[in-house]
Amino acid sequence: MLTDTGVSRTKFMTSRDESSLMAAENETKTDRAEFRKEFENPRELFKNLNEHFYRRYSEVDDSDEFWEYMAKPLRQSVRINTLKGELKDILDLLKENYGDVFTRVPWCREGYFVRDDVSISGSSIEHQLGLIFFQEASSMIPPVVLGVKAESSILDVAAAPGAKTTQIAQYVENDALIVANDVKYSRINILISNLQRCSAVAHVTMCDGRRFRKYPEAFDYVLLDAPCSNAGMARKNYRYAKLWSLREVQSLSRLQKQLILAAYETLKRGGTLVYSTCTLDPLENEEVVDHLLSNTDAEVEKVRVAKGVEPVTEFEGREYSDEVKKCLRIHPQCNDTEGFFVAKIVKPL
Ligand SMILES: C[S@@+](CC[C@H](N)C(=O)[O-])C[C@H]1O[C@@H](n2cnc3c(N)ncnc32)[C@H](O)[C@@H]1O
Repeated sequence: MLTDTGVSRTKFMTSRDESSLMAAENETKTDRAEFRKEFENPRELFKNLNEHFYRRYSEVDDSDEFWEYMAKPLRQSVRINTLKGELKDILDLLKENYGDVFTRVPWCREGYFVRDDVSISGSSIEHQLGLIFFQEASSMIPPVVLGVKAESSILDVAAAPGAKTTQIAQYVENDALIVANDVKYSRINILISNLQRCSAVAHVTMCDGRRFRKYPEAFDYVLLDAPCSNAGMARKNYRYAKLWSLREVQSLSRLQKQLILAAYETLKRGGTLVYSTCTLDPLENEEVVDHLLSNTDAEVEKVRVAKGVEPVTEFEGREYSDEVKKCLRIHPQCNDTEGFFVAKIVKPL
């Protein structure tokens, strides 16, 4: 399927999709309140949610701070869409409607945290008009690090629902060839709807990202925001911890290794690839980057746009290249965000 964003959104997204998403979100809020009441100690809370999850990530970070932030509700953050207007004008409008409750996300010029006692809803006029995009602050990092330039070719391998594609489109002011791909039909619908809402221009493709290995050296920039076990998102939704399993992590790690090789293959010489996930698992982060380094001539560049913890170089008897230390591993307590991982890779000329 190849389409541009001029396609009617109503054809792709029904109000039922939106209401079931909202119902799931509400259910989660109730769950969270009940859990937090029952377990004052965050470690007990996570042990109760999923003992295996607790044990595994205690191996990665066993500080009290880590578990406290894993249990804490997530701050709301929005990205201002400069494809729709000047940053200052949209920010002034937001302040007029919600008060002086916005604090800039330090690593993203267009990103703002919303004060905890205020919540902007999906039915707000600012969201409906595409003036803002609800986007977790750490997830704003990969497009910043990718450093795209206008008149280039850019591939977003796993693009839905389009937070990062729309951010990239705003950085190039719609003056680049952007291919936004995803494998899932239901998520492609939401991607198209978001591109349209934000006036972001991209070609949307629906295929398994591994297929891009058939197009060698085609893109100047490639973003692989990989499908992952979402372990870093547990503070947004305890269900991610509850449903987590090691078997899924292992299977995702295999997929991520194939995806990163395909993403690297389709990158031009001299081009930049950003690999990111919202998981804390070394198998899905450092191990995937290490796999790329062992099988290609890829080079890692340092990412230091936000506070992070030392990346993992040894885990369960495995050893990873020291080069992975250049990646950015964010734990929830570092910047009061979700857990996140970002690697910047360049393909030598
Ligand atoms: C973390 S989400 C991407 C979020 C998106 N980049 C954003 O910022 O809005 C991962 C996406 O990978 C997609 N995916 C899973 N397996 C894939 C594959 N083999 N090829 C391409 N996309 C895949 C999922 O459907 C999902 O939409």
